[in-house]
Amino acid sequence: MTRRILLVNGPNLNLLGVREPGVYGSDTLEDVVALATETAAGLGFEVRAVQSNHEGVLIDAIHSARTDCEAIVINPGAFTHTSIALRDALAGVALPVAEVHLSNVHAREEFRHHSYVSPIAAFVIAGAGIQGYEFAVHRLAAILP
Ligand code: DQA
Repeated sequence: MTRRILLVNGPNLNLLGVREPGVYGSDTLEDVVALATETAAGLGFEVRAVQSNHEGVLIDAIHSARTDCEAIVINPGAFTHTSIALRDALAGVALPVAEVHLSNVHAREEFRHHSYVSPIAAFVIAGAGIQGYEFAVHRLAAILP
């Protein structure tokens, strides 16, 4: 059976590489997906990648992972700090969740310090740039049965 990880990127992450490069770096979303996919392949996993600027699309993608993915890597973007619905979707599918942020959200504005997702995440990686996605895939592979 195919072992699969869902990779979710939230709002504005389609602009990676262009958007505030001083904060988020010059790598693109395509680079993020390629890095996660290559890392996962080396560990025997496939990646299904989704990016959307729309909360409901992200929630639907999370729901659909319930039956055919073993874990979720998510950078919820600004929904991290606002979306109870996204957190409930993640909690609802009961898969291990890796929360990833490119920037160190704790060293930034106060409103980025709180995450609705962190309490239901298996672990959180912030400030490691796109390498954070690589670390997340490695760690999930290590903790999955
Ligand atoms: C982010 C941090 C969030 O605060 C911000 O809204 C983003 C990106 C990060 O990857 O550092 O869109 O999740």
